[in-house]
Amino acid sequence: MERTLLIIKPDAVAKRVTGKILQRVTQQNFRLCALRSERLTAESAGGFYHVHRGKPFYQSLIEFMSSGPILVAVLEKEDAIKSLREVVGATDPQNARQGTIRKEFAESKGHNAVHASDSPESAREEIAFFFPSADFS
Ligand code: CMP
Repeated sequence: MERTLLIIKPDAVAKRVTGKILQRVTQQNFRLCALRSERLTAESAGGFYHVHRGKPFYQSLIEFMSSGPILVAVLEKEDAIKSLREVVGATDPQNARQGTIRKEFAESKGHNAVHASDSPESAREEIAFFFPSADFS
């Protein structure tokens, strides 16, 4: 079993589609180990996205991610990281496959509804960022 992190971003929370997104994920047999609503500050958003510091979209990413509440979830399944990225779809919704979360709920590359960890290292780091001492059941 593997764990990964899903963030439902401020655009999707504002559109009130968090329930639909979580349903998509749990229908694919992910187990929801942890779930929390949170409002990031610009500083904490910068900490989370530190690997993108210096990129042209970094400032707008930080502003967007701290613009409203998010929902953070830890999900468990066999091969969870790859499997969740398939359910989520490509970063740019224009390139996302039909049936993926981003195809249905994202507006643009920047406002793209969700984030999913992209490797075992980032999953470990990202889960610890939001749930530093979590003892998941
Ligand atoms: P996410 O999966 O959260 O990881 C980093 C985020 O940066 C990504 O989703 C996008 O929302 C954003 N991003 C990546 N590339 C671009 C880009 N070229 N323009 C705007 N935002 C981007």
